[in-house]
Amino acid sequence: MAEMVPWLWLVDVVTGLERKARRISEEIDRLLERVIADHRQRRRGARRVGDGEDDGKDFVDVLLDLSETEDEVVGEVQLDTVTIKATILDMLAAGTDTSYTLLEWAMAELINHPTQMRKLQDEIRAAVGVADRITEDDLPKLPYLKAVIKETLRLHPPGPLLLPRETLEDTELQGYHVPARTRVVINAWAIGRDAATWEHAEEFMPERFAADGEAEYHKMGVDFRFLPFGAGRSGCPGVGFAVPANELALASLLYHFDWEVPVPGGGRPGTTASLVDMSEVNGLSVRLKRALLLVAKPWSS
Ligand code: HEM
Repeated sequence: MAEMVPWLWLVDVVTGLERKARRISEEIDRLLERVIADHRQRRRGARRVGDGEDDGKDFVDVLLDLSETEDEVVGEVQLDTVTIKATILDMLAAGTDTSYTLLEWAMAELINHPTQMRKLQDEIRAAVGVADRITEDDLPKLPYLKAVIKETLRLHPPGPLLLPRETLEDTELQGYHVPARTRVVINAWAIGRDAATWEHAEEFMPERFAADGEAEYHKMGVDFRFLPFGAGRSGCPGVGFAVPANELALASLLYHFDWEVPVPGGGRPGTTASLVDMSEVNGLSVRLKRALLLVAKPWSS
């Protein structure tokens, strides 16, 4: 409340939200402090015994490396412990929720569209052949997979309102005067479903991307019909990592398993599996109202 209507800050205190937020933030802070302390201790130990520090470096090690450079300044940013903690938190918050939300929507859409599910599984299994697991090298052979991920992001962008922006100066927009310092919220969800730009906008039709190939992520900010990763200087810096990571995850789920909706009543004769309920629940990200529950049947090549 305090963020939207500052003089109503007392509401957050009375409802207990303020206290809860403070407690959670302290918990997260303690965890991050411990992670950094553990890494520092391990690195000191490795240096003492002259171990190769390059082996098994993770993201926290990279940030610590930067903070330990001579001048401790990278670009304009001083990498102190607070900055390191903020960066780890930013990556976790921005990278995990978004990715699992995308995967859950993709699986839900595919289960509700068996023809597309079969087409995608056929593409993956034919292209990969006999293998223990799918690797990044397989991805260029999977155009329909890319189309399915794009179509899922069009209908269900995990960050439907992107991140809030603020105008720097007075602006005229389609006859409206927008004063400087106005908070601007962009509805990427509505843009992706706009019937003026998308045919059969409400339908799940990955083929539109297979035929088109136009709405590429790297055209973010050029093609404004499709903004699941935002645009401009605030656009998602993780897009180059997120897209192959999610393609790989979805391809693996569909290569190794066949999927079904559990039959109500444990499969008693006469009962049939229903479709997945696609109701949404709104929050910072839009997720399925009911968590997706599917039966995975192992498949071997
Ligand atoms: C399916 C996966 C993902 C989606 C849909 C997604 C989407 C977005 C969106 C919509 C924004 C706001 C952009 C804007 O307002 O213009 C954003 C910001 C951001 N994303 Fe992603 N993202 C994903 C994965 C990732 C991953 C894997 C990482 C990092 C490992 C990441 C890091 C970030 C960061 C750090 C920001 C904040 C940028 C800022 O401070 O302005 N994202 N993302």
